[in-house]
Amino acid sequence: MYVCICNAVTTCQVAQAHAEGADSLRHLREQLGVGTCCGKCCGEARALLRELSAPP
Ligand code: FES
Repeated sequence: MYVCICNAVTTCQVAQAHAEGADSLRHLREQLGVGTCCGKCCGEARALLRELSAPP
């Protein structure tokens, strides 16, 4: 599923980046371009990061 449609970034790519240490929207922006166009994905990207950071 796409998180950022503008830049065709998927949830899998975000999960991979998170596993490699990306823990903020700034990191996702720098590494994958998330939120650099229309910005509509920022809320969803933050929520996904929270979900990935939550304890199991
Ligand atoms: Fe991510 Fe537009 S959907 S910048």
